Amino acid sequence: MSSNFPQFVTKRLVIRVAMASDAEKLCQYYVRNQLHLSPWEPKRSDAYYTLRWWQLRIAQIHAEFNDASAISFIAMTPDKSEIVAVANFSNIIQGVFKSCYLGYSIAKAHEGQGLMVEFLQTCLGFMFENVGLNRVMANYIPVNERSGALLQRLGFEREGYARKYLKIAGSWQDHVLTALLHEDWSARKALN
Ligand SMILES: CC(C)(COP(=O)(O)OP(=O)(O)OC[C@H]1O[C@@H](n2cnc3c(N)ncnc32)[C@H](O)[C@@H]1OP(=O)(O)O)[C@@H](O)C(=O)NCCC(=O)NCCS
Repeated sequence: MSSNFPQFVTKRLVIRVAMASDAEKLCQYYVRNQLHLSPWEPKRSDAYYTLRWWQLRIAQIHAEFNDASAISFIAMTPDKSEIVAVANFSNIIQGVFKSCYLGYSIAKAHEGQGLMVEFLQTCLGFMFENVGLNRVMANYIPVNERSGALLQRLGFEREGYARKYLKIAGSWQDHVLTALLHEDWSARKALN
């Protein structure tokens, strides 16, 4: 494992980039939560639920980290026995843009306990303060009220509405477009 992978310990979570040895746990996360996640994610092939898929995906996650195009975090229980949630900061572009997209989910069994707030607040701090981003964008399907509430709680602001924006669960779905700016993140942090 690359020694420069970030790692954080919060009140209820251990947060880091997945290692090769996490493939089994990551596979279990998606197998166990297949029904819970399927309305909000692209259609998955049968291969997606295999150990081999996650071994290859973790290798890709490391390549993306090393070329600075994406950072994918996992959140684990304090004893590291289970993956609780995932967050992917993708399409990182530096230069005059300094922006990326954020995608996330939490296991059904851990939903509604404020763990996503705890997880994403930590990851966002790293993306703004260490990676140096100016903007993180996150988009959700209008009926996904939990996702909208989570983004609002984190300080994301609505910027627009895109029709037929992503092909989710087999059909093109409208999305609410939101974003969080580094300066707004810093102002909120100073208040807390
Ligand atoms: C969207 C999703 C990630 C939200 O996760 P969540 O577990 O509801 O998120 P959290 O519990 O961290 O935060 C949300 C609520 O928990 C509440 N909460 C409970 N205990 C809390 C605590 N100790 N600290 C902070 N918040 C707490 C908060 O009040 C917050 O509610 P609010 O909306 O009234 O502010 C989750 O529903 C999910 O994985 N859905 C399926 C996949 C998905 O939709 N992904 C996103 C696609 S855009």
